Amino acid sequence: MRKLNVKKLVYFIISIILMLSFIILISNNKKELTASVFKKTENKQITTIDNNHEVNINYPMFYNEETDNVILEYINNLNDINNKQSSPTSLQIDYKIYNIDNYKYLLFDIVSSVDDDMVYKSYLLDQDNNIASYDNIFDLDKLKNKIIDYSNKKYASTIVKKIEESDINNLNYLINNDELIIYFYELKTSSMSYVPFIKILKKNLKDILKVEYDIDKSYTFKTVKKDKYIALTFDDGPSDYTKYILDVLKEYNAHVTFFSLGNRMSTYSKILNREIEEGHLVASHTYSHKDLTSLSVSKMLEEINSTNIAFNKATGKKITLVRPPYGNYDKTVLSNVSYPLILWNIDTKDWSNRNAKKTSNIMLKKAFNGGIALMHDLYESNVEALKIALPELEARGYNFVTIEEMSNKFNVTLKKGNAYRYIE
Ligand code: NI
Repeated sequence: MRKLNVKKLVYFIISIILMLSFIILISNNKKELTASVFKKTENKQITTIDNNHEVNINYPMFYNEETDNVILEYINNLNDINNKQSSPTSLQIDYKIYNIDNYKYLLFDIVSSVDDDMVYKSYLLDQDNNIASYDNIFDLDKLKNKIIDYSNKKYASTIVKKIEESDINNLNYLINNDELIIYFYELKTSSMSYVPFIKILKKNLKDILKVEYDIDKSYTFKTVKKDKYIALTFDDGPSDYTKYILDVLKEYNAHVTFFSLGNRMSTYSKILNREIEEGHLVASHTYSHKDLTSLSVSKMLEEINSTNIAFNKATGKKITLVRPPYGNYDKTVLSNVSYPLILWNIDTKDWSNRNAKKTSNIMLKKAFNGGIALMHDLYESNVEALKIALPELEARGYNFVTIEEMSNKFNVTLKKGNAYRYIE
């Protein structure tokens, strides 16, 4: 090959690359445009306090005033209900995006229950965020006849009469891919154990459905009363990763206990002070991580006392709890260490798997009310593990507390000479 041809080839390849990147740029832009209908949602939270229970209400925000106001108004009403009676035992907001004739509709349902009372409400919004009529989807006259047909088979005439009188456009619809469910919340009486409803299969809606629809996306926001407690603990730190762990904990309002090593305390005094400032508890994991059962009493006390000094120097505070390295202790340790010993019964094995998925799976599988979970703030994988486990545990009703907060909640006084694997 002659030299000139090589040059030409290089130019050719460069121009192909330029063209390709231009095409990719253009197509990416297009993608963003179509995705902007019902913009990205965000999971927001309101916290209300009721009988010592924190109730976090999760709800979607659409960054559109009109849509968001509908949701906020509902949430505010819910808060009013809370103040008068008890808080909702559960709240669920579902929303689905439908494709109908190249136009998108959003249906969201709010289901909340205060003890046995259930509140159900659904809204249909069009892609310009206006409240839409179900007329866009159904022939409402025909639908009403169908509803009355079904009601006659299922309910007494007094209920059917009320259904006949109700406004068809104001019913609570749940539209799934293969069925339509209509809830008659207003018709629920105290003697009924559930809200009256009618279910019509989609195949029986043929002459009633005006358009074909399919569910584009579906989301669920669930809120449960948070009445469980779990104490996450982090050993062997502080390390360079601790700050990232602190960032995630902050996001979930989680308080944890750090069992830190005395010989790291002066280097990481800034981190220790941040931990305390953000509501966490810092406790002792001894000075240099030696198995206390292998030491003479004087060496054992040196491990404890030098940690106390290092901690006090770094933070001005005093140690209140000790976790023996490897979880090893015996009678001599119990009688010589003048602090309660804190062990664990949820072992995430993070030190061996160093894998966010595995660590979080173990945590989620073994979590229980009063449990103490063992992790280490030495591994980057734990940052991701927390991002997986915390929202799931929160959804199951857990509060994340320090060992001291948990013992207060359970009215347990931690005593020296005792070792604790959980609190009850
Ligand atoms: Ni350790």
